[in-house]
Amino acid sequence: MHFQHSNFLALAALSSIGPVLALPTFSQLVPRAQASIDLCGDYDYIILQNSPWIVYNMLYNAAKMVGTQCTYYDKMTTSSSGTQEVLWNSETDIEYIESTNNVPKGYSFVGLTQNLEVTLSSIGSIPTTYDWTRTNTTAFKGNVCYDFMTNNIKGDSTSNSSRELMLWLQYEGGQLPIGWGKGPSAIIDDLFGTSWELYEDVNTDTGITVSSMLPNTQFEGSFSGDLKDWLLALVALGKFTEDTYVNVGNAGTEFFYGNAIMNATLALQIDIGSTSH
Ligand SMILES: *[C@@H]1O[C@H](CO)[C@@H](O)[C@H](O)[C@H]1NC(C)=O
Ligand SMILES: *[C@@H]1O[C@H](CO)[C@@H](O)[C@H](O)[C@H]1NC(C)=O
Ligand SMILES: *[C@@H]1O[C@H](CO)[C@@H](O)[C@H](O)[C@H]1NC(C)=O
Repeated sequence: MHFQHSNFLALAALSSIGPVLALPTFSQLVPRAQASIDLCGDYDYIILQNSPWIVYNMLYNAAKMVGTQCTYYDKMTTSSSGTQEVLWNSETDIEYIESTNNVPKGYSFVGLTQNLEVTLSSIGSIPTTYDWTRTNTTAFKGNVCYDFMTNNIKGDSTSNSSRELMLWLQYEGGQLPIGWGKGPSAIIDDLFGTSWELYEDVNTDTGITVSSMLPNTQFEGSFSGDLKDWLLALVALGKFTEDTYVNVGNAGTEFFYGNAIMNATLALQIDIGSTSH
């Protein structure tokens, strides 16, 4: 049976994006917001200047998709508490086809571009707020999640010593995590206001172990917390140590089929250094 996704491909592509360096031109000396843009190609992205983010329309199973999928970058704002946020949408119009209904077609996300490839112990906190609404006109299958990757090797998010860590906030249409058939390998009590079941197995496409945490009570359009607590919960279970490197981090939505628009506002950053955590 073909379970689940392979965001790893997304991440491999991400890690090939080097630093973006260019001499400033006259027009760049005047701060100007980047225009909003609808990203509809299989691997279209926009790197947001003056932010820690890239917005990505990652259709790693485009060949198995009938329909369209776009990721819309709207704008950046500052919340009332002074936190930088990005407004973006995931626009899905994918036909239900029996033979591929269990194949994720891709991942629409906002990924971090700053303060990655550092050890977990050197991270003070990973504050985030993620607010979303999804409006669907047909049955929709997919989720809302965070996806991080760690490895004891700095910067390595492709070899099979990597771990892919997923925190599902909401899922519908019958989506199941990798390792579902084995049953939960652990229960994590009292994290972000709910308990979680941990499902784990190797993604046979990549050789990478995927650890997905599914909430006992799903989040209904709003989440906030310090994602370092999530990673430390996995340390407590012996999955890796605080010496491991956090190489990739993002927030997004996986989709299988359906006609739906998710409108989202995200704040997400890695703060280096000790905090009064
Ligand atoms: C939206 O998707 C959910 C999950 O697939 C489904 O239960 C619901 O009926 C859908 N809504 C509409 C209007 O089709
Ligand atoms: C991990 O990758 C290495 C090198 O490609 C390979 O030799 C090894 O068999 C792989 N291990 C697993 C568990 O897939
Ligand atoms: C959601 O985003 C779409 C464009 O992607 C926009 O047309 C629509 O007005 C938005 N809906 C809400 C409730 O903000």
